[in-house]
Amino acid sequence: MSTMGDGTRAVRAGLPEPEQFEPPLPGPVFAAHFHLSGEPVGPYTYGRETNPTWTHLERAIGELEAPGEEVGTTVFASGMAAITAVLLSQVRSGDAVVLPDDGYQALPLVREQLAAYGVEVRTAPTGGDAQLALLTGAKLLWLESPSNPGLDVCDIRRLVEAAHAAGALVAVDNTLATPIGQRPLELGADFSVASDTKGMTGHGDILFGHVTCRDPRLAADVRRWRKVVGAIPGPMEAWLAHRSLSTLHLRIDRQCTNALALAEALAKRAEVTGLRYPGLPTDPSYAVATRQMRRFGSVVSFELADRDTADRFLTALRLVDDATSFGGVRSTAERRGRWGGDAVAEGFIRFSVGVEDPEDLLADVQQALDAAVR
Ligand SMILES: Cc1ncc(COP(=O)(O)O)c(C=O)c1O
Repeated sequence: MSTMGDGTRAVRAGLPEPEQFEPPLPGPVFAAHFHLSGEPVGPYTYGRETNPTWTHLERAIGELEAPGEEVGTTVFASGMAAITAVLLSQVRSGDAVVLPDDGYQALPLVREQLAAYGVEVRTAPTGGDAQLALLTGAKLLWLESPSNPGLDVCDIRRLVEAAHAAGALVAVDNTLATPIGQRPLELGADFSVASDTKGMTGHGDILFGHVTCRDPRLAADVRRWRKVVGAIPGPMEAWLAHRSLSTLHLRIDRQCTNALALAEALAKRAEVTGLRYPGLPTDPSYAVATRQMRRFGSVVSFELADRDTADRFLTALRLVDDATSFGGVRSTAERRGRWGGDAVAEGFIRFSVGVEDPEDLLADVQQALDAAVR
């Protein structure tokens, strides 16, 4: 699998060896327990611990995260379940962790929880390398690159080297990029973590998450944590997630092409400011993004003059749903300030680009901008 192209790998990822009269991707196994006599040893004992549908999917995600390598992947009921599994399985009272101060808006909740458990939380913005000054004595460095919703990018390899030299582990939230856009383990990270609710599954119909690690001890910690808290995905969701992976490259390639076209079109509009897309050559993150990313993702962010202009823009869009989340096949956009959790301007828009025909999408955005500023 290591020498194959991304598309070939995606369509075959995690499939069992062909067996006469068996389906290529076995259906979801709905079981709370499995027949088990004698010693209670696996592979399948009880449904909170393991499930064959997870096994196929975990293999698939591992092949995408680290082609040709033996890695350990653990799937979860959501991205937050995956994030907290890493943090809470690794840190202890008295430890210090470094978190982004501009990452996903639930991170401040995690931060509060860690502080309540006696963990020292230090924060730094994603871009600009301020993390380097915070690593002494830290147990774990958490990165989110590109960051949501600001789309800043950090130099993962450089920060990993510094963190490891200081004795800290590194986790990367790779949600925006997906493993075919960026492979954190190849860049040296210890954990690649994602909300697969987004681009990875791509249809806006399931919540899902995963953690992949190279070190079997760390993988075992994460797996044990899932067993302790029971943050397990349903077999149907796991099967849908696996089925979605076979179109990952098609969806993401089209979304990236559309996202770049949208960013280029927005760059020409006088009423648009603060435009960010890591794949746009004029973006401040472009140089570092091109070094570490293989695809730049489906999200474009920008600002309109104020809240009313942004709301008029969203209302005027015909082909783009006003909805949160991102990475799906149907374009969505939202005024991010409505949630109150991100440090963004009132007119800030996070635009998730889908797989529509680019001419239709761009025409819709142009007419909505015209309507918004009229
Ligand atoms: C970057 C990032 N990480 C994690 C999450 C949390 O994922 P979930 O909603 O699947 O729990 C999100 C959700 O938007 C996200 O954007």
